[in-house]
Amino acid sequence: MNSTPSETRANEHDAQTAAVTVCREDDLLPGEHMVVDIGGREVGVFNVNGRLYGLLSRCPHQQGPLCRGKVSGTLGADAESGWRTTWIHEGEVVTCPWHGLEFHIPTGQCLAYPRTRVRTFDVVVDDGWIKVRP
Ligand code: FES
Repeated sequence: MNSTPSETRANEHDAQTAAVTVCREDDLLPGEHMVVDIGGREVGVFNVNGRLYGLLSRCPHQQGPLCRGKVSGTLGADAESGWRTTWIHEGEVVTCPWHGLEFHIPTGQCLAYPRTRVRTFDVVVDDGWIKVRP
């Protein structure tokens, strides 16, 4: 299997911060995401409107490759909107490609089962490089 330069760099550890370098900042633009190997675990790295987030790419339902799913928003309704269905969280929701459970990228929270969360990772920019803290 061939690896991209980003995947290769994801295995390089930064000795000072223990962070793992993923790619150049310019290689992950708003609305984009990628899945990288961090210490043997697949982690999704997301740029949501200029903010960076990391999520473990293992769905708690049946261990599906969560972060290989589509990023979008979702339908929601609450008392504030008079229980009218509205489109919310645009660009902040990843949908598991296996059975469709949706997760809020910034928090890792499952939208259908709010007590269920996916592990999150800190993602930082260091001298123009995006890095994930394992
Ligand atoms: S494995 Fe993700 S929804 Fe089933």
